[in-house]
Amino acid sequence: MTHAHLTPKVSPAVAIESMVNIVGKDSVLLDPQDLKSWGTDWTKVFEPEPLCIVQPKTTEAVSKILKYCNDNQLAVTPSGGRTGLCAGAVASQGEIVLSLHKMNKILDVDAVGMTITAEAGVTTEMLQNAAKDAGMFFPLDLAAKGSCQIGGNVATNAGGVKLIRYGGTREQVLGLEVVLANGEVLDMNVALRKNNSGYDLKHLFIGSEGTLGVVTKVVLRLVPKPKNLQLAIMAVGSFTDIPKILQTANASGVTITAFEFFTQVAHKIVLKHLPGARTPFQEISDYYVLLELEQAEGEGVMENLLGKLFDDGIIADATIAANSTQFKEFWGLRENITESLSAHGQVRKNDISLAIDKLEGFVAALQQMLANENPKDMDLVLFGHIGDGNLHINYVSPKSRDSKDFHSVARAIEEKVFKLLAEFKGSISAEHGIGLTKKKDLHFTRTEREVAWMRQTKKMWDPVGILNPGKIFDL
Ligand code: FAD
Ligand code: MLT
Ligand code: ZN
Repeated sequence: MTHAHLTPKVSPAVAIESMVNIVGKDSVLLDPQDLKSWGTDWTKVFEPEPLCIVQPKTTEAVSKILKYCNDNQLAVTPSGGRTGLCAGAVASQGEIVLSLHKMNKILDVDAVGMTITAEAGVTTEMLQNAAKDAGMFFPLDLAAKGSCQIGGNVATNAGGVKLIRYGGTREQVLGLEVVLANGEVLDMNVALRKNNSGYDLKHLFIGSEGTLGVVTKVVLRLVPKPKNLQLAIMAVGSFTDIPKILQTANASGVTITAFEFFTQVAHKIVLKHLPGARTPFQEISDYYVLLELEQAEGEGVMENLLGKLFDDGIIADATIAANSTQFKEFWGLRENITESLSAHGQVRKNDISLAIDKLEGFVAALQQMLANENPKDMDLVLFGHIGDGNLHINYVSPKSRDSKDFHSVARAIEEKVFKLLAEFKGSISAEHGIGLTKKKDLHFTRTEREVAWMRQTKKMWDPVGILNPGKIFDL
């Protein structure tokens, strides 16, 4: 199987031999088990069918691979840590998977300029650790940090749990090296904080999901280590109280470093599947909020805030993490939702965003709609980065349920959710991207003219159309 617009000029055997000539035998994987695991991401919805997996060690090799593929009309799927949640790194139509796995060196940590330079295959956690070792902080943080790579973070413009304080991936990127479809190496690696000299092209590649170029090197900003982080978990009776907590916290002048929420059903599923997990509460509650803040000066900032929230009747219960073990435990209740849901059942994911002032109205309308639908054998699990207006809606059914039936019922609800979302002027993807799973829904968020300009942009940078074809939109 190949992509309709591409007619390969060489046979699969010749293409594979050419890859071996560029990167060496050890860096071309052909074993069926390898093709399966390296040819897909976390979504596991589409069957992977890559031609081969190529793991270059240098930018020069990436350039040679792309030039060869461009000249010979061979489709390429760039691949990072394969933790993506929209099938962006899935090779289901005979693509060559270009894995950045072996380009995993941290190249420089600049403690004066507060920057870090790394190859694209470095994991997010490696960057966090290197920054920490140098007495600084790399603020991109997500539960997949041990596996996801900075190249993948850039390609998806990953958000994560600290976006409310530091911004997402885009805000951390100072420079990029990208290899274009024709093999040209475009060096945008200037580690400047300010640079208004013409178009800032690097931003085009951030969030482009591997469709415009392959990221090979990244320069990122670092920030000072946050001081005295305080973490509280709160029990909340009604969703309408969650924006009130945010408003009260903001009005009190504290520095919020994370503001996350999850529902009772999400909490129950984590308690069931995460070894050693305990709830900090005696009574169950419909919603839970995790609030992390920086207590720069003085004592009792969190206590005072929680006191006010109690007095105003906004929260039902709350606990402050008393030590680093509890700090990790509380975060674990939030960060393990994704893995616990996967252990629990079949999952279909929506990742939507709204303006904060529209959240309350949207969630009320959503809950009414879901109550009317009342789908059988399906839990609707809500959680997410609610301080950023980012709501993760997960449809979860038992693993024993027929998968086609599950997806068709969930899809019918999802379409209604997207229609409702469009009325509230929200986005169908806050942070995970479009990939294969959401491309039919792009019109809910982007106008026809926007998509037309996206297609033009794609044609300009990748005229043959070899880079991750079929992702985001069809040509
Ligand atoms: P992959 O999945 O390998 O690829 C993702 C996309 O990027 C694909 O389109 C691929 O073609 C492209 N790509 C990869 N590397 C490159 C490169 N070097 N050059 C060009 N294109 C490339 N996401 C969030 O935003 N916030 C979260 O809080 C979050 N939490 C998560 C928690 C869990 C447990 C899991 C499993 C996922 C989570 N994700 C989250 C989703 C995922 O981790 C992010 O999208 C991440 O940025 C993907 O990085 P990756 O290296 O795994 O990329
Ligand atoms: C999260 O916030 O935990 C991630 O985006 C993963 C998910 O949505 O499952
Ligand atoms: Zn998320």
